[in-house]
Amino acid sequence: MSTPASRPTALITGATAGLGASYAAHLAAAGHDLVIVARDRNRLEETAERLRERHGVQVEVLAADLAHRADLAAVAARLGDEARPVDLLVNNAGYGLKQSLAVGEIELLEQHFDVLARAVLVLSNAAAKAMVDRRRGRILNVGSIAGLLAGGGHYAALKGYVLALTESLAKDLRGTGVSATVVMPGYVHTEFHARAGMKGASGPSHAWLKPDDVVTASLRDTFAGHLVSVPSVQYRVLAAVLGVLPRSVVRTAWRFSSRKAPSNARTTSAVTSSSALTTQG
Ligand SMILES: NC(=O)c1ccc[n+]([C@@H]2O[C@H](COP(=O)([O-])OP(=O)(O)OC[C@H]3O[C@@H](n4cnc5c(N)ncnc54)[C@H](OP(=O)(O)O)[C@@H]3O)[C@@H](O)[C@H]2O)c1
Repeated sequence: MSTPASRPTALITGATAGLGASYAAHLAAAGHDLVIVARDRNRLEETAERLRERHGVQVEVLAADLAHRADLAAVAARLGDEARPVDLLVNNAGYGLKQSLAVGEIELLEQHFDVLARAVLVLSNAAAKAMVDRRRGRILNVGSIAGLLAGGGHYAALKGYVLALTESLAKDLRGTGVSATVVMPGYVHTEFHARAGMKGASGPSHAWLKPDDVVTASLRDTFAGHLVSVPSVQYRVLAAVLGVLPRSVVRTAWRFSSRKAPSNARTTSAVTSSSALTTQG
């Protein structure tokens, strides 16, 4: 077993459920100490205790709501703590939101923006600064295949930002010894869809990925220093198709696929209502 002095440290946001819990388990099993971040402190403590017992690593709990600026600043400060260096940042926390950009609640849309976009920017910057000084480190941002969808609602717009941000970050990090990776999963079996009120959402079973498979593939790509990770063959094909199609064609396809959307829906994007599952995840 690795000793505390020899163990690298990973900070994972949204580490209590779904993909984040799987990142935490995989990294602990591989001998990383962890800093785990989420809002629910009890669940964080339970997760930390389980990982310490199972893997003999140190697990630090940092309860934070990434939509709150003071909490986000505390997580950024932890990343910048020179005495306790973080070797890997996994920007994973996120959720789906069924709100129309046109008539939805702006407070909910802003919170969504703060967690899925602003927090990723702030924490990537805090981690990169500390890592560049040490000339080593890795940043893994959890995007989505939805980030390639033109006209796919607020979630798709934010995941598009995560993709573009990571591409630019990787360029700025070139030659520093620090890498940035974005993983773009399709549907994954997690708490995501139930939390977003999409319990009834369905899709072909072969389209659904297991969290452990997404995590294994994306960590492999992260440690290999790859910029983009798209787990599973079917989503690599989809990403390639979406990447070459003109955005106008993708937009038209989405408009067509969501024609049954009620025009006055306040809580659901007109674009995503009939295909909420497809565009959020
Ligand atoms: N599931 C999919 O189909 C899918 C597909 C592509 C991409 N993704 C992306 O994968 C990432 C993880 O999602 P998941 O599917 O694993 O969802 P999940 O099972 O619902 O887990 C979400 C995690 O994020 C935390 N979280 C949510 N809001 C937060 C906030 N304001 N501040 C801090 N932590 C917060 C939650 O803990 P607390 O509630 O305690 O805060 C939880 O630990 C997200 O970025 C999501 O967009 C998911």
